Amino acid sequence: MRRAIFLQFLLGILACFSVFCANAEDAYRYYTWVVTEGIQAPLGVYQRVILINNQFPGPPIEAVTNDNMVINVINQLDEPFLITWHGIKQRRTSWQDGVLGTNCPIPPHSNWTYKFQMKDQIGTYMYYPSTLMHRAAGGFGAINIQQRSVISIPYPAPYGEFTVLVGDWYKAGDKALQKTLDSGLGLPLPDGLLINGVHQSYTFTGQKGKTYKFRITNVGISTSINFRIQGHPMTLIEVEGSHCLQEVYESIDIHAGQSVAVLVTLLASIKDYYIVASTRFTKPILTTTGILRYEGSNTPASLPLPIGPTYQVHWSMKQARTIRLNLTANAARPNPQGSFHYGSINVVRTLVLANEKVNINGKLRYAVNGISYVDPTTPLKLADWFNIPGVFTLNSTKDFPTSGPAVLGACVFGINLHDFVEIVFQNSEKTIQSWHLDGSSFYVVGYGSGEWTIDSRKSYNLADAISRHTVQVYPTSWTAIMVSFDNKGMWNLRSQLWPDRYLGKQLYLKVWDNEKSLFTEADIPPNALLCGKATNL
Ligand SMILES: *[C@@H]1O[C@H](CO)[C@@H](O)[C@H](O)[C@H]1NC(C)=O
Ligand SMILES: *[C@@H]1O[C@H](CO)[C@@H](O)[C@H](O)[C@H]1NC(C)=O
Ligand SMILES: *[C@@H]1O[C@H](CO)[C@@H](O)[C@H](O)[C@H]1NC(C)=O
Repeated sequence: MRRAIFLQFLLGILACFSVFCANAEDAYRYYTWVVTEGIQAPLGVYQRVILINNQFPGPPIEAVTNDNMVINVINQLDEPFLITWHGIKQRRTSWQDGVLGTNCPIPPHSNWTYKFQMKDQIGTYMYYPSTLMHRAAGGFGAINIQQRSVISIPYPAPYGEFTVLVGDWYKAGDKALQKTLDSGLGLPLPDGLLINGVHQSYTFTGQKGKTYKFRITNVGISTSINFRIQGHPMTLIEVEGSHCLQEVYESIDIHAGQSVAVLVTLLASIKDYYIVASTRFTKPILTTTGILRYEGSNTPASLPLPIGPTYQVHWSMKQARTIRLNLTANAARPNPQGSFHYGSINVVRTLVLANEKVNINGKLRYAVNGISYVDPTTPLKLADWFNIPGVFTLNSTKDFPTSGPAVLGACVFGINLHDFVEIVFQNSEKTIQSWHLDGSSFYVVGYGSGEWTIDSRKSYNLADAISRHTVQVYPTSWTAIMVSFDNKGMWNLRSQLWPDRYLGKQLYLKVWDNEKSLFTEADIPPNALLCGKATNL
């Protein structure tokens, strides 16, 4: 008897030592994605778009917590290509993160199979190409993760769900945008906004009296948006995998790379209503509309459009502070006692990341604490795994802003596994920023204007700050986050404003301990692509 239990335990461990820690009861989902180039006119001008299985946006991934994903990406483009899974934590497997610091790109006319698990996650996420400016041509789509049937949710089950991918769009196409950036210039304002790939009148149809979950993601590459539905208040229920306090909003700001889920009940009379997305902090304001149609409606939506905020920074900061964690709600696991006592954990390290527009060799670049990131031809993760020297040096960037001219480089901070770290993003620009971390979520403990100082800590929310993966930093302001680095690997911390990222506003964090254990990090996958100095290993 005892022996049988021991054997079972042993088998469990062995299962863990295979490619990834799969649990017998966790489902497998297999996808084959063919990535091709197509010609479409989302804003009325024909341009190249990147299609996945002939779709723009790409097909949604509908999954359940702990599902194992096997996604064979067949790259039929003439360029190297990678997809990253924005907000999927890739527990123990930064190998699957799909950014150039962790993966060699999939060569043209070739394929590579991602294998990862939606470990302990629920919520609203997305995927998109991480290479070059490919995102500006498409290749993005939704990732929706439902809770397991045994886990209760802190709101009444909605009757239906709608996925809303909203974001800015350039008519110029990704290659022209890349050329502009390569020549040392910045990009102009985008030409418009799209909802699910459509500029006008994308229609969501629901029944009167029923409640729907709208999963809304800002898939844009350079602007924040405000989202609202005519005559229909929205109850915020989830932010990037965290159940938040259920506040009601007339309109909500969603910054580049962020996702929210809201409940909307169809209580008005049977007709059509405008859904509006408009840009924030831009001149001019770009606006697009979709339609919420009540089943049986014969009446088109009527003007005026519901009004939203435009330039008001204070409004947005105030709203952001109302987005807080529900301390008693479940997420992917039960939470019977309530938890999230992050406010009582000791901060062992503070990083203050000042980032600035710089000029290097006569060209526009962006730098973080004096380093403007350039992808080495050998992915950092491979260089590290195979001990290849000369690709990057750990901790060569300072934890605090430095003076002196910026240089090109590969910035990698060394973080000890399980360290609890405070990161302050200091924005000296007059434009809004958006920062994303791969591999972990973080608590957004504070926003403030001006320069961050030690005194700014007095204003931190140490009780119920939201835990998310992407955060905005207001113009000439700071944002502070706290992260428990419990996921060993090489993780990208980047601007979600893609032109800025392309020009160097990103870095990597190597989360590490010296104990080699498959319980903390999976081995290099057997199908890993090798490139650069790792080519013949
Ligand atoms: C490429 O796709 C084929 C099936 O079309 C598959 O058998 C093979 O494993 C894939 N290669 C990689 C590296 O994933
Ligand atoms: C918080 O979650 C609990 C479930 O644990 C739920 O009953 C409650 O309504 C939620 N509170 C708010 C304000 O969202
Ligand atoms: C990087 O710096 C941190 C903080 O000073 C330190 O804990 C860590 O050991 C350093 N890593 C390396 C490899 O120097």
